[in-house]
Amino acid sequence: MEYEIESVKQLARQLEDDIPTLKLEDLQSKYMGKNGLLKQLLTDITNQSDEQKRTYGREANLLKHYFTERVSQLSSHITIDSSTEKIDPTAPFDINTPKANWPKVKGIEGTMHPLMQEMEHVLKIFQNMGFEIVESKQLDDDYHMFESLNIPKGHPARDIWDTFWTDDDLIPPAHTSTMQNRVMKERKPPIRVIVPGRCYRNEATDASHEHTFYQIEGVYVDKNISLGDMLGTIKTYLEAFFEMDLEIKVQPAYFPFVEPGCEFMISCPFCKKTGCSVCGYDGWMEIMGCGMIHPNVLKEAGIDPEEYTGFAWGFGLDRLVMIKHSIADIRRLHSGDLNFLKQF
Ligand code: DAH
Repeated sequence: MEYEIESVKQLARQLEDDIPTLKLEDLQSKYMGKNGLLKQLLTDITNQSDEQKRTYGREANLLKHYFTERVSQLSSHITIDSSTEKIDPTAPFDINTPKANWPKVKGIEGTMHPLMQEMEHVLKIFQNMGFEIVESKQLDDDYHMFESLNIPKGHPARDIWDTFWTDDDLIPPAHTSTMQNRVMKERKPPIRVIVPGRCYRNEATDASHEHTFYQIEGVYVDKNISLGDMLGTIKTYLEAFFEMDLEIKVQPAYFPFVEPGCEFMISCPFCKKTGCSVCGYDGWMEIMGCGMIHPNVLKEAGIDPEEYTGFAWGFGLDRLVMIKHSIADIRRLHSGDLNFLKQF
């Protein structure tokens, strides 16, 4: 920010010099203490000429706001406890590690983010069911996002998943189905793969919509695979995830890459179909899209649809986590609000 008023400019420069050299408490008392420099700056508004008052007030307040932000960033800096072994943040973390053995960080008691806790949980369930894990890409191309999924140029379904393009014609994927073609091309049936990944949507956010979220795609291809196998596989997974028996139902839905396509629904895990605020007094919850992989999609991946059949699904992890933990607003998951996160 460029400040116009000379006294605000000077204080901003002084602040930048002091931040790296002073201790946090000294910074706070020098600037925000009773007679702190920022307090003085703000009271000085009365000494400004009438035409300067507005600009001065705005700039002085902005500087105060900037200072408060910087100080809260500094105070949230954490130091790793040197008495414990070095932490490698890239190392895979086993969620089953007893809490007492988790890496220690001085000053805070860390917990794994609820999304990552549940991601580990979901992956473990599918691994136990014989699925392999393949991560999706953060940037993908038109072929994997659309063409390979039976969505040619000009197809109206492109609109639902169109986000934005980079200068070199890549797209932040709007779903993890982008990996279907790769997964099938690179393997021979039987294929059992799940694809966790980040997705991006052109969405206005509200309590139940986020522009960025996690999805988990599943692909299963073999001889004689039927819709019954799909229903059984997804039900088994969801019962393990919610740790209870569930009733299921499907209703038809259109996705260009599956035929038939379905919306998979479960009986509400909270009210067991008697109706509650979580399921909107409906007793059922729509959990994911799924269906039998379209013959064109199999062919495009080099699999003969006369010989093999398969099913695929895609669900939002954030939504499942919201349901499981009764979180009312999806935006809290990405808010970085420590008071919220500490509950998990
Ligand atoms: N990709 C779809 C979406 O994000 C979800 C989906 C629906 C994935 C049906 C599938 C499927 O694999 O068969 O809206």
